[in-house]
Amino acid sequence: MAPSPSPSSTGLVGRDNFPHRHLLGIANLAPHEIRFLLDEAEQWVTLNRADSRKHDDRLAGLTQMNAFFENSTRTLLSFEVAGKRLGADVVNMHAAQSSVKKGETLIDTAMTLNAMRADVIVIRHMSSGAVQLIADKVDCPVLNAGDGRHEHPTQALLDALTIRRRLGGLEGVIVTICGDVLHSRVARSNMLCLTALGANVRVCAPPTLMPAEAERYRVTPFHDFDAALEGADVVMMLRVQNERMDGAFIPSAREFHLLYGLTPERLKRAKPDAIVMHPGPMNRGVEITSTVADMPDRSTITEQVEMGVAVRMACLDVLTRERRGVAGWA
Ligand code: NCD
Repeated sequence: MAPSPSPSSTGLVGRDNFPHRHLLGIANLAPHEIRFLLDEAEQWVTLNRADSRKHDDRLAGLTQMNAFFENSTRTLLSFEVAGKRLGADVVNMHAAQSSVKKGETLIDTAMTLNAMRADVIVIRHMSSGAVQLIADKVDCPVLNAGDGRHEHPTQALLDALTIRRRLGGLEGVIVTICGDVLHSRVARSNMLCLTALGANVRVCAPPTLMPAEAERYRVTPFHDFDAALEGADVVMMLRVQNERMDGAFIPSAREFHLLYGLTPERLKRAKPDAIVMHPGPMNRGVEITSTVADMPDRSTITEQVEMGVAVRMACLDVLTRERRGVAGWA
């Protein structure tokens, strides 16, 4: 029998905590909905840290399809591990090498997944908006695992969870996000998520890699990395996304490193116990030196991966509650 719904920390019950069918981005989530997903993820951190069995069978009998039209290591693996730990039957579709393009072909793919009666679909696609397109065509919840330069909501949630667990909360925390902000869906989802949770967000990039609309996100733009680091609690470094660049945005990796690379000397400008984050994959020696990336108590890079599994378990659980007939959600 489905357990009866209990009030969350927000005082809301059941579906009122998260009244969305899909998770396509952070943009349309209220702060309490973001906090709800983070609160839900905590139980999975505990389960995943258990010495022996890390299993819960609430998604048993459900089919989770991961359709990745773009390369991925940690996001794909993390969604697969998350689904399996909840007991789902997980199927992966790798389309990175195929010639699938946006438009009819994409819709055909969506219809195929739908005809196989997926219960939840996780999609990564190189085109911004492609995930929304698929979500409009299928009968089950869709999770965005990164679409073009648009959003990567589960990455922002796992980053928020990592900061919350390390610093005790997000309110008033100074977060400096530095690197290729222009091409980064991680930066976009994080700007939305961290400001919604009350953080004070600074973004730093060379003028060519700074989005024109940065101020609309209620973040403070910087071009001088040293100034952006002053007094920061969290330093989040981003990769230079060469694959999304169709022109020369930076003179060279060496120049980029000189101006925007995080070195132990530069890190001294941040708070003495500031944490260092990176969503991966890292370009060691470009945006971050190995010395900083591997600092045992300052770098949270592996912890972010760990939180990723917990956050994705929470999202898969919450989004499938309606079809599982969980009381208060169906
Ligand atoms: C990022 C992505 O793919 O958006 N990586 C990730 O999901 N952990 C960032 C990147 O590609 O640089």
